[in-house]
Order: sequence, then structure tokens, then C-alpha cells
Amino acid sequence: MAIDLAGKPIAITGASSGIGAATALACAAAGMPVALAARREDRLRELVNRIEAAGGRAIAVACDVDEPKDSQRLVEETVGAFGSVYSVCANAGYGFESRVLDMTAERIEAIFRTNFYGTMHLVWAAGPRMVEAGAGHILMCSSCLSKLAVPMYAAYSASKAMQDHFGRALRLELAGTGVFCSTVHPVQTRTEFSDRTRAESRGKAVMTGSGGSSQTPETVASAIVRCLRKPRGEVWTSVGTRLSFALATAWPGLADRVIAKEWKRRAEKR
Ligand SMILES: NC(=O)c1ccc[n+]([C@@H]2O[C@H](COP(=O)([O-])OP(=O)(O)OC[C@H]3O[C@@H](n4cnc5c(N)ncnc54)[C@H](OP(=O)(O)O)[C@@H]3O)[C@@H](O)[C@H]2O)c1
Repeated sequence: MAIDLAGKPIAITGASSGIGAATALACAAAGMPVALAARREDRLRELVNRIEAAGGRAIAVACDVDEPKDSQRLVEETVGAFGSVYSVCANAGYGFESRVLDMTAERIEAIFRTNFYGTMHLVWAAGPRMVEAGAGHILMCSSCLSKLAVPMYAAYSASKAMQDHFGRALRLELAGTGVFCSTVHPVQTRTEFSDRTRAESRGKAVMTGSGGSSQTPETVASAIVRCLRKPRGEVWTSVGTRLSFALATAWPGLADRVIAKEWKRRAEKR
């Protein structure tokens, strides 16, 4: 039987744009009180107004996921406003393109701080409360690239793989507690992600937004709400990508040849 989400509060990081904003709207439409978190507070306030105008409940929480205390405060403000926290969606994240030999430890640490530790601080802040309540759902917005590294994205892929591995272990550890953990694996999605990737890559981005089809953030948001209603371990919006990445893991030599060809094509197209 599907879970009735009405009245179940969710806190979403990275809610000022893209997948996070779309997920906030979709969750609010499903009747969930929503705590919206990101650094651009003006964006969050606009979204709160939209949700309230449609009859939903929402709060804006200025939050930098790089700061552990901000994740703690996000959970506390969610509980303060709505009485409990049923779900968290650790969605804040960014990417950059760089060859491995050109990367610095500082840039790798910075992306891990946001994409991975930002996720974990939210999990550590909310998870024990959910276990105590005997119900809850932790969502981590990882990526299809958590399963496969491609040129220029080693740091991003690794940060997403860390979410994936921790999410899977956590799901197994939480069995029987009433708390579920899901990882979300979007393919290329039309958000501000590619703009930020270009900015972070100092204008040198080659792969991002330069080929292949893309989906809307609403597609990912709908899949997340379906997963909240009927929990499953991994959320995918492209069966083709899921299967081809599984095959790429089984046959890495063949995958390397295909990826190298695509990499060359995109680099030449630029
Ligand atoms: N778009 C894609 O193709 C794609 C594919 C696979 C996975 N994903 C993943 O999906 C998630 C959402 O990305 P998106 O595509 O929706 O991109 P986006 O439009 O750029 O949204 C990223 C969100 O993360 C927030 N954020 C970034 N750093 C933060 C920090 N330190 N503290 C708090 N919030 C922070 C941003 O808000 P502020 O700047 O206002 O803080 C923004 O709301 C990311 O984890 C990304 O890795 C995206």
C-alpha cells in the first residue's frame, strides 16, 4: 500500500533551484509541509510564497551545507515549524570539470565537503530522530555518474559514489527500524547545474551540456515523490542509462572504448 504523504514534513537542501526546487513543489503538492534550504534565501522565499499561495505549508531556512551546524539547525527549524521531520532530501551539490592531473587537494576536499559531508551532516542530524519515531525516509540525490567515472568528472563521480555507498549501507543498517534510505540517480537534467559547472571549471567545461538528451527537473521530482510513496532503494529516471552503466561495470574495457570515443567527439565539438 502506498504511504500517504499528507502532513509528513520534509527538509530539502538545494531547494533554491533545479531538482531541489521542483522536488519541493512536488512534495508540497502531495501535502507535505516543506522546509526549503539553500544559501540564496531570496529564491527560497519566492518558493515559500508559491507553495503557500497553492495552499501548502513551507518555511525557508538559509543554510550552507558546508557548515555542519546549518544542517543541524535545518532539522531543528523543521521540527519547530512542523512538529517532526519525516523525510530529508540531501540534494545540494555541484560539479566541476578537471583532469585528474590538474586537480588540487583543496578542490577535491571542497566538492566532498558539499556533496558528501553536506549529505552526511543532514543524515546525522535527522536520522536518529527518525529511528526514534520509528518512521522516516532519507533521500540522497546522487547521480548516474555514481556508478561510472568519465573523463573530467573524477572528483564529482567519486563524491556521488560516496553518497551511493553510504546510502546503500545505511539502507541495510536501517532495516526493521521503519526508516528507509534511497539514493537518487538522475541523468543529465536541465537545471543551473551546467552553469555552475562551467563557472567552477573556469570556462573550460567540455563535457557538460555538450551532448546527449536531457530531462526536466520535474521528471526527477515526480520520481522522488513516487519513491516516498512506495520506498525503493534506488531512484532512476532512465532505464537505458541504468542498464548501460551496469553493462559498463561488467565490461570495463568495452566501456572505456565507448567513453573515449564520446569524449573525443565532445571535445572536438566544443
Ligand atoms: N543537473 C544534472 O544534470 C544532474 C545530474 C545528476 C545529479 N545531479 C545532482 O542533483 C543535485 C541538484 O542539482 P541541480 O541539477 O538541481 O543543480 P542546481 O540547479 O545548480 O541546484 C543545486 C542546488 O544546490 C544548492 N547548493 C549548492 N551548494 C550548496 C551549499 N554549499 N549549501 C547549500 N546549498 C547548496 C544550490 O543553492 P544555493 O546556490 O542557493 O546555495 C542549488 O539550490 C546535485 O546534487 C547534483 O549533483 C544533477
